[in-house]
Amino acid sequence: MATIAIIGTGYVGLTTGACFAHLGHEVICADIDERKIARLNAGEIPIVEKGLDRLVDEGIRSGQLRFVVGAAEASKNAEFHYLCVPTPQGEDGAADLSYLEAAAAEIAPVLPTNSIVVNKSTVPVGSTRVVGRVLNRPDVTVVSNPEFLREGTAVQDFLHPDRVVIGSRDTEASIRVAGLYARIAAPIMVTDPVSAETIKYASNAFLAAKLSFVNAIATLCEAVGADVNDVVLGMGYDSRIGREFLRPGPGWGGSCFPKDTRALANIAKEAGYDFSFLDQVLKVNDDQFDRTAQKVLDAIDPTVAASTHVAFLGLTFKAGTDDLRESPSIEVLRRVLAAGVKVKAYDPAVMADDGRLARTYPDLDVELTSDPYAAAEGASVLAIMTEWDEFVELDFDKMAEIMARRSIVDARNLLEPTIPRRRGFVYRGVGR
Ligand code: UGA
Repeated sequence: MATIAIIGTGYVGLTTGACFAHLGHEVICADIDERKIARLNAGEIPIVEKGLDRLVDEGIRSGQLRFVVGAAEASKNAEFHYLCVPTPQGEDGAADLSYLEAAAAEIAPVLPTNSIVVNKSTVPVGSTRVVGRVLNRPDVTVVSNPEFLREGTAVQDFLHPDRVVIGSRDTEASIRVAGLYARIAAPIMVTDPVSAETIKYASNAFLAAKLSFVNAIATLCEAVGADVNDVVLGMGYDSRIGREFLRPGPGWGGSCFPKDTRALANIAKEAGYDFSFLDQVLKVNDDQFDRTAQKVLDAIDPTVAASTHVAFLGLTFKAGTDDLRESPSIEVLRRVLAAGVKVKAYDPAVMADDGRLARTYPDLDVELTSDPYAAAEGASVLAIMTEWDEFVELDFDKMAEIMARRSIVDARNLLEPTIPRRRGFVYRGVGR
């Protein structure tokens, strides 16, 4: 079993570290945030991620998983060094590599001879070379090993991946990285670093394009009177299309798709190719935010617009996570607020009293409630924005009593429309 340093203990780093420890490796996770490391050492998980608490607890107890402050401290005795630091979007749409370069510069002097530095973060095409240059250690190999983890199912995705991609021109280094996954049953694909980096961006941008396409089809279905649920079901039977990632919604978001789609457009532009297809993918998504917000606004009686409010159910970018970054719900919320309508919101993963929403979006003037009925009391519209299971179980008899107007915009097609309709609600879904 190997000794692995994980540099950066966010979503990707923490999941990668805990899963490698679970597979039997000795893992040291590092972060610059002392408070986060203290909490992790006490067994507290800073994020909502199914199954992660159990793995972290298991790793701490067995001694396979440790947390330290500072990358050099983690790397000085490790054989593999996984760079899992953020690569946020810079002002021009390109990824900002400063965290990656700083992490590489910090570990460079302490790396044991013949160890391997692995790029796990989503980094622009060519970054393996950039890291190699910053390290300036000819005795150390830099390998690309992109992550394909979805928030909310990251542990499952790590332990049961569709594939493991390794990018290196050094066969021995590739074999050593592949060895880390020996207990995982998945195809392992070895390619050159630039191709591995491109696979990551191409996969995310393709999925984003698939969703923009589905959302555009949903709009078409509304125009021609088709039911998008049946349309995507019928499409999905074709194995060339596949059943996954065909759910229409309020638009797609999160910390990866928007950033990576913009970054790929930028990478292409810098390489001399105008990938205008991606601009359209992004535009269709923006249009979807607009269209969803318009549905909400259309459901309000204009004569009472100033005195009523909309109840937003769900703020995170999807169910199963507490992540609010680039959330479609927030995008729609912004548009509704901009039209001068008040909003009360509820999300099971965003607590009213912890101040996280206000810290993430200080400009949003929204009242957070601690249950869906408190948000809906006196509201004119119920807007279902995130597909949390608990919204399927809502009591529509109660909703009918407490709301000022019986109107629902179901931006995730979560509900069976007949259930609220039977209670006198006007129901609008997506593409049906
Ligand atoms: C995404 C990719 O799915 C992962 O493979 C990748 O590793 C990750 O980005 C990353 O680059 O780190 P994630 O952002 O966690 O994962 O979320 P997804 O489950 O892909 O959802 C993205 C957005 O698409 C969400 O807003 C979600 O609600 C939306 N979506 C997804 C739909 O609207 N319909 C669908 O059918 C599926």
